[in-house]
Amino acid sequence: MAIKRKIAVFASGNGSNFEAIAKGCADGTINADLAVCVTDRPGAYVVERAARYGIPVVEFRPADFASKAEFETMLLGELRKHGVELICLAGYMRIIGDVLLDAYCGRIINIHPSLLPAFPGADAIGQAMRYGVKIYGVTVHYVDSTLDGGSIISQAAVEYDGNDREILESMIHEKEHALYPATVAGLVDSLS
Ligand code: GRF
Repeated sequence: MAIKRKIAVFASGNGSNFEAIAKGCADGTINADLAVCVTDRPGAYVVERAARYGIPVVEFRPADFASKAEFETMLLGELRKHGVELICLAGYMRIIGDVLLDAYCGRIINIHPSLLPAFPGADAIGQAMRYGVKIYGVTVHYVDSTLDGGSIISQAAVEYDGNDREILESMIHEKEHALYPATVAGLVDSLS
């Protein structure tokens, strides 16, 4: 059995993708320890989910730091302390800066609720609905300094021809909860 990799998940809110990855690590479908959860919103629901899995959380308020470089330097220390080798962004509502990009080059991934390169940025689902899209989807991609622009690792389509946002969101989330853990599982196995 290959050695277990250490991963981190960054989230700002609900954390359902965090939990999908935590579950995969707990049941062994992802050969990794989810070593730490990072959130820029203390008290977000993801913190409660992490507690249920016994996963340590680093909570911080960006406003308490002079700059992004300063809080990312603090985060880098935490990530190194936990031996983190791969960072998975899951609803983390911040652009990653140079400190983390340099330290974790090619080892930061994100999930985005559209078929990139269509609809990058905020409210991808709303953007796609307003466009009248019939095939929605989700993308897992590497993070670089562009907005949702890093190279694509995996995608899955969601067919929906209606205008009920709640229904569409739940279909997209269901797809994410399958695609993200499966993608992370493949990546941790290929880490050198
Ligand atoms: C997901 O739809 C993800 O694609 C986007 O943010 C949302 C996070 O949802 N980046 P959750 O917090 O994991 O429930």
